[in-house]
Amino acid sequence: MRLLVCGGAGFIGSDFVRRMLAKHPDWEIVCFDKLTYAGNPDNLASVADDARYSFVKGDIRDAETVAAAAKGADAIVNFAAETHVDRSIDEPTSFLVTDILGTHALLEVVREMGIAKMVQVSTDEVYGSIAEGSFCETDRLAPSSPYSASKAGGDLQVLAYHRTYGLPVVITRGSNTYGPYQYPEKLVPLFVTNALEGATMPLYGDGRNVRDWLHVDDHCDGIEAALLRGRDGEVYNLGGGNERTNREIATIILDELGCEASMIERVADRPGHDFRYSIICDKAREELDWSPAVDFEQGLRDTIRWYASNEPWWSKIKHHTGEFADWHRRWYEERTAK
Ligand code: NAD
Ligand code: DAU
Repeated sequence: MRLLVCGGAGFIGSDFVRRMLAKHPDWEIVCFDKLTYAGNPDNLASVADDARYSFVKGDIRDAETVAAAAKGADAIVNFAAETHVDRSIDEPTSFLVTDILGTHALLEVVREMGIAKMVQVSTDEVYGSIAEGSFCETDRLAPSSPYSASKAGGDLQVLAYHRTYGLPVVITRGSNTYGPYQYPEKLVPLFVTNALEGATMPLYGDGRNVRDWLHVDDHCDGIEAALLRGRDGEVYNLGGGNERTNREIATIILDELGCEASMIERVADRPGHDFRYSIICDKAREELDWSPAVDFEQGLRDTIRWYASNEPWWSKIKHHTGEFADWHRRWYEERTAK
């Protein structure tokens, strides 16, 4: 198997690259990544010298560069996206450009080169919020944020290309993912690294919003299963089955690090904040033979300890690039003042 992994230098993509190279001695992987603020070559340092791995810097919108990198590829797995909901509220355009137009450009490459499979890595956020019950794959899309609306736009392009041109595409819709190497703008790494530095954890609103947490290794195994066993034109939900409020997540972090509850700081809510995500994953279980394996409490505590032991990795991002500090100031100063 020769794979082109787009967005492979980010959080989930880099786990996928490392994990697939370890699981499949006969696989070759080309990582294609623009190296935005979220793309980090440090995430792939452990495979950089592997003869089966190579890296190409490029934008998924640039069809020519993608096509050159995809030469000889059996499949494309697309992780590349702008991914942070808060940034999409702050500056939506780049989300539409990459998550919709970028996906479209990749589909054109798959069509022109006759690539045998493309997996589009999508999100449970495309269904929107659900107060009770859970969404299945045929439910209507009702995204709330510019991020999730852009991901939904990407999904619709993928499904349209299957229907119109018969493209061999599969979509996965994963739930909130946690684990090592996540850019520290997202809830878990932000709260953990703040606590490690003695800074407060900015909890939005009343902290009762619910997310379904999935370990990054389980998420990647689900994407692998979709690549190997997914039926063309189909969508597969990949959820962890671990619904927790944000306050519950914060409490586990406080407990693991031995911090006081006063470290939680309630701040102004995210505009349009989805209350709860919940998905049914029977289809992935039955058709892909996939189900999550990592125990949530154990996985989260291991993740917290990983950040505690890998301070140089996140400290470089938080304190040595300027990008994180600019974002943090722009978004949180206003929220904490309220
Ligand atoms: P991330 O922000 O950590 O990484 C995104 C990667 O894409 C980065 O390496 C970045 O450099 C790259 N990229 C961005 N724009 C690009 C472009 N135009 N061309 C090439 N590369 C580009 O994201 P993540 O959390 O690893 O998410 C990966 C995928 O999984 C995304 O598609 C996201 O929507 C989806 N997803 C994420 C979660 C989650 O909880 N993190 C859950 C479900 C689905
Ligand atoms: O559901 C899958 C999605 O999960 C992915 O598609 C997205 O790429 C990923 O970022 C994630 O989106 P969320 O918005 O759910 O993740 P985030 O970590 O930003 O926020 C998780 C919850 O924590 C959400 O209810 C908002 C809250 N939160 C977040 C931050 C950053 C806070 O209370 N304070 C914060 O500072």
